[in-house]
Amino acid sequence: MPATELTENTEKTDSRPRLLMGPGPSNVHPSVLKAMAQPLLGHLDPEFLHLLDGVQHSLRQLFSTQNRFTLPLSATGSAGMEACFVNLLEPGDRVVIGVNGVFGGRMADVAQRAGAKVTRVEAHWGLPLDEEAMVAAIRSTQPKVVAFVHAETSTGVCQNPETIARAARDQGALVVLDCVTSLAGIPVDLDGWGIDAAYSGTQKCLSCAPGLSPVSFSERAIQAVSARTHPVQSWFLDVGLLDGYYGGDRVYHHTAPISAIFGLAQGLARVEEEGMEKRTLRHKEAAAHLLESLAPLGFSPLVAAECRLPMLTTLNLPGSVTNQGEANVRRSLLQNHGIEVGAGLGALAGKVWRVGLMGENAQTKSVDTLRSALEAELSPGA
Ligand SMILES: Cc1ncc(COP(=O)(O)O)c(C=O)c1O
Repeated sequence: MPATELTENTEKTDSRPRLLMGPGPSNVHPSVLKAMAQPLLGHLDPEFLHLLDGVQHSLRQLFSTQNRFTLPLSATGSAGMEACFVNLLEPGDRVVIGVNGVFGGRMADVAQRAGAKVTRVEAHWGLPLDEEAMVAAIRSTQPKVVAFVHAETSTGVCQNPETIARAARDQGALVVLDCVTSLAGIPVDLDGWGIDAAYSGTQKCLSCAPGLSPVSFSERAIQAVSARTHPVQSWFLDVGLLDGYYGGDRVYHHTAPISAIFGLAQGLARVEEEGMEKRTLRHKEAAAHLLESLAPLGFSPLVAAECRLPMLTTLNLPGSVTNQGEANVRRSLLQNHGIEVGAGLGALAGKVWRVGLMGENAQTKSVDTLRSALEAELSPGA
């Protein structure tokens, strides 16, 4: 396709706004888009570095951590995941990973590729990890690292990190937590829970564009990286090298993605303005409204209330959807109403939808728009 056509397509996309109610990206506030459209600064310009300092400070607050090494990595959440494992693990190291969905499974894959000996502690998709099984695996294998997902986006399950993290620390292990979907939607407390390395993404409850992964490493984790016998295999993700720029000396490592960081700064400002208490409540209220509004249409939640995420709800599908083919109904929602909802992943493909109410979209009015569109698509004459 010639570049001129690409431009035309981009312009067309701009004129057809979507209501992004899938597992991410979520809709971005106009002020974030405006921030991203600002003229560029150089990545060593004092004005930009001042803004970056502010972004790092805000990320520490959002992660509830004093960790000096807290920064927006220049890539998506998967790079944050990879950064944790390639820095903390050396070939032959033991790692225990909780797997109750796609992203726990992906952690295990990444750790294996880093040459680690992986013990997977599996749980049924739709349930939280079995804490006793995790603790038993930690005690019996004495791993260097224990890793699991806070908010499993493939199932909609929230994992309470405290018991597993404590057991891991009691055995001297480092704890890695995936906060891609949880950060800025529900409280994250890295220092309170004893987490050593965590990563997130900007396109979920932060409601910024995809492309950055906020990460945080504790001093224990940084020391473990310094004590490695082999250099970190990835040059780009080596925390020691990243620290040269983000740690304060501002030594060139790679060119920071200026526009994305402008957007993140604005997204973080919106989170701070609202406050996490109100923001958490807003996510919970929107999720409750979703279940109430879609129950009369035959949708029911996959996950039990006590471990259900507010920002991502997995819904069992009624016959009115499966009879038409769930993918056809999703396509109609997109084409006729501009609404995106997510398909089930892995073992849940074809069985559930994943409805995101993340960041800017965690509003009862998003739910009402979805409900009206579904009523239109599922009515007998549709
Ligand atoms: C829990 C979780 N971890 C990791 C990722 C990977 O993030 P990204 O797609 O930004 O690379 C995702 C993305 O959906 C996720 O939901």
